Amino acid sequence: MSPRNARRQPVVFRVVQITDTHLFADPSKTLLGMNCDQGLQDVLAEVSRTDDSIAAILMTGDASQDGSERSYQRLHERLQAVCARQYWIPGNHDESRVMAQALGATNTCFERTVVLGDWQVVLLASNVAEAVHGFLSPAELERLDTVLGNSQAAHVLVCLHHNPVPVAATWLQRHALQNPQDFFAVLDRHPRVKLVLFGHIHHELRDVRGTVTYLGAPSTCVQFHPRHADFELDRRNPGFRWLDLHADGTFVTGVRRVRHKHYSVDFSGTGY
Ligand SMILES: [Fe+2]
Repeated sequence: MSPRNARRQPVVFRVVQITDTHLFADPSKTLLGMNCDQGLQDVLAEVSRTDDSIAAILMTGDASQDGSERSYQRLHERLQAVCARQYWIPGNHDESRVMAQALGATNTCFERTVVLGDWQVVLLASNVAEAVHGFLSPAELERLDTVLGNSQAAHVLVCLHHNPVPVAATWLQRHALQNPQDFFAVLDRHPRVKLVLFGHIHHELRDVRGTVTYLGAPSTCVQFHPRHADFELDRRNPGFRWLDLHADGTFVTGVRRVRHKHYSVDFSGTGY
């Protein structure tokens, strides 16, 4: 077959979402009985065991539990060992200023738009100082609208920390993104947006609104029960989400969890 007649080969980008790592400066410290460093290392071992060609890691917030420089540096080192490209957004537990100090403000992990072949990834900050809930500021929404308006990419994936779609766990829903309608109004103007990824909820979720699929992922430490009205930990193991982004705008995704391992978790905990 001549090159002129050769059909264009589909290009697939494998992306991994790591979220809510909740690390401490001291790697021996625990959250509700669980060693978050161990959970992260086990999840990354599972990533490495099954994925040897990752295009990028998307870290969707709550990197640190104590907002320490050392926790951010250690997470960056651990992710770097798995994939050369990693991109971060802050969660409600993070200190953006400390994060920038720890890794350097010009670190490529803070890039807010990323091109992966025919896909563009847009990363948004939804964290609010001193608050658990999320909010997308008018400036952030305007930036999103401008980026999407100027984008040459055929397909777009948007990341933010807080869930813009409802969850069944009532206590958690109180801490959701507070202005999802403003977010949806921007997305509705740009039909190239196919996917929205978020963290925060510490459980797997899939929802669809119009032509956009919304995906939540498990934490690499403790898991929140997806349906309880009050704070309740789930007994599932930590995990991550993987996505294959195809050039035609379709995608395949799933969640994988650490297997054959028992974690010491205080299931009687009433908050975190
Ligand atoms: Fe979290």
